[in-house]
Amino acid sequence: MMNTNVIVTENLSKTYGKPPLQVFALRQTNLYIKHGDYIAIIGPSGSGKSTLMNLLGCLDKPTTGKIFIEGHDVSTLNENELARIRREKIGFIFQKYNLIPTLNALENIELSMGFAGVDSQLRTEKAKKLLEMVDLSKRLTHKPSELSGGEQQRVAIARALANDPSIILADEPTGNVDTKSGENIMSILEEINREGETIIVVSHNMTIAQRAKRVLRIQDGVVTEEYV
Ligand SMILES: Nc1ncnc2c1ncn2[C@@H]1O[C@H](COP(=O)(O)OP(=O)(O)OP(=O)(O)O)[C@@H](O)[C@H]1O
Ligand SMILES: [Mg+2]
Repeated sequence: MMNTNVIVTENLSKTYGKPPLQVFALRQTNLYIKHGDYIAIIGPSGSGKSTLMNLLGCLDKPTTGKIFIEGHDVSTLNENELARIRREKIGFIFQKYNLIPTLNALENIELSMGFAGVDSQLRTEKAKKLLEMVDLSKRLTHKPSELSGGEQQRVAIARALANDPSIILADEPTGNVDTKSGENIMSILEEINREGETIIVVSHNMTIAQRAKRVLRIQDGVVTEEYV
């Protein structure tokens, strides 16, 4: 599967609202994202970064244009099929972690595998392995409120990997943690990328962005590739 496109967009655009209050959040975007790519998306607040991420992750629908994920035109899929793509092909990491507060670290990860129909013993084994990978073996039964921001984000990374997705989408994963935890989170993502995972990460931090293999800049909804 190496060197084939995992995501292709064709004249992808997103407009919010109606005239005269229209916002052109994303304009005519054509992207080719290969398996194993590591892409950073940078741009000022309001430039369209989250809009693009939500479209790539099939959380939202484009106004015009198309997205192909592993060759499938997602505009032809119904809600069930879209949910399946989100569950099986995409791992999300958000700025605010989005963990379930009543479930502990292990259960948060097991839950996403439960939706994918994985057997309960396998779920626990895999969740433990993933938490070990993000260095949280000693926090298995901690609830999100009993974890630091950086630890919660590492649980969220482990959760994103639970169903072996083809793509990891991370929207400002270091936005809510201190610099050191942020570096730790980025090292984990880099390690995952070295193992072949495709990663797209939004960041305000240029130092972080420059560690990616490709940098895309968005300005007023226009995406351009940055050659550094
Ligand atoms: N649901 C919505 N309805 C109307 N306008 C929206 C909606 N969501 C986003 N926008 C507008 O679209 C533009 C792009 O928003 P987006 O969230 O993609 O920005 P961003 O680059 O992620 O910004 P930030 O760095 O602050 O997270 C903004 O001008 C925003 O106000
Ligand atoms: Mg955003």
